[in-house]
Amino acid sequence: MLGTQWGDEGKGKFTDLLAADASMVVRYQGGHNAGHTLVVDGESFALQLVPSGVLYPHTIPVIGNGVVVDPFVLLKEMAMLADRGVDVSRIKVSGNAHLILPYHQQLDALHERHLGDAKLGTTKRGIGPAYADKSMRLGIRVQDMLDEKIFREKLHTSLGHANKILTKVFNRLPVDPDELADRVLAECLPGIRPLIADSINEIHAALEDGQNVLFEGAQATFLDLDHGTYPFVTSSNPTAGGACTGAGVGPKHIDRIIGIAKAYVTRVGAGPFPTELFDDDGDRMVDIGREYGTNTGRRRRPGWVDAVMLRHAARLNSLTDLAITKLDVLDTFDTVKICTGYRIDGEIVETLPYHQSQIHKAEPVYQEFDGWKTDLTQITDVNELPANARTFLDALAEQARVPISLVSTGPGRKQFLEFS
Ligand code: IMP
Repeated sequence: MLGTQWGDEGKGKFTDLLAADASMVVRYQGGHNAGHTLVVDGESFALQLVPSGVLYPHTIPVIGNGVVVDPFVLLKEMAMLADRGVDVSRIKVSGNAHLILPYHQQLDALHERHLGDAKLGTTKRGIGPAYADKSMRLGIRVQDMLDEKIFREKLHTSLGHANKILTKVFNRLPVDPDELADRVLAECLPGIRPLIADSINEIHAALEDGQNVLFEGAQATFLDLDHGTYPFVTSSNPTAGGACTGAGVGPKHIDRIIGIAKAYVTRVGAGPFPTELFDDDGDRMVDIGREYGTNTGRRRRPGWVDAVMLRHAARLNSLTDLAITKLDVLDTFDTVKICTGYRIDGEIVETLPYHQSQIHKAEPVYQEFDGWKTDLTQITDVNELPANARTFLDALAEQARVPISLVSTGPGRKQFLEFS
């Protein structure tokens, strides 16, 4: 299960829904840059790092090897959940996942400031610097905390590099590796130790036992480091292939790939966005859809749903079906639109141009539909969908070339329609 746009598609809601039939829910990339909101019996839970399956007593939430884990944040999130009566004892963290430590966050913020007008608009959670350390073989893994000597040595090596950047490039004070080690070992290790697991072994034991394992993507296809609108992307691979590397399974184990798409599109942070709206329609999407980051509180940029992107996402991820979220946000619109192609230098193109300058120039070509002007939040049966809403969804599926299997009509766990 993964996002097909620029994130914030409402993935948490459908992960929570699908987790009802899964024995394990595995996060495979990203970190606490994610913000997944789940609403259960009118109560809202905002998760950043813990997999969405945590709210069911029967699922094992696994933070996979591809995730970057801030141990302070993980413990805080677990404490918040435990305070609200959620059993957090089943959570497992891969010993191979990499740590985000405070200096990664400091570097993230400094890099952004350094970029000035060219900044990416990151969440400043230290995601990029932690993955950079991983790629440079300077990263520190969750398992390293289990051996104090190794942990201290690795912190010395990693900070040997980071401190040069902090002091010589950014003119900041160095971080003392031993002080940081003391803090992490005292404040985090006792809480994290019981969670550390051989996630690969546990995931494969579940698969071999015929259990249902759900892989939960954070961020989305067009924020993917390889396939997104680079450099305005995150530093991991939210696309379906990322589930294999970030959880340690081969592609043959993945038999259903659900792409989550909002009935319109939003984007936070900088980067190209062909269907972006700067008018009343966009403001209404933001107001009605409450399009402000769960994580950073930033206003999301709104736009009409883009089938060119969806077709591309379908290819990149081998999507088997689509789940559409927030259809109800468009309930009061007189007309609704789907972008079916781009006009670039006078020509209509229907596939996403590889050359990003073309995407910057793209003018959307729209198919327009009458709105349904009905409160969808009250509908519980697919057959009660107004004809205009059905027409819009059918056109979206046809344009995306992927069938729609689920449609969400409100934030609550029960507010969804299942298509056969
Ligand atoms: P980073 O992941 O914090 O490095 O941010 C890189 C880009 O990804 C920025 O444009 C962020 O706004 C965006 N981003 C990261 N996580 C999310 C998310 O969960 N939802 C939407 N956008 C995100």
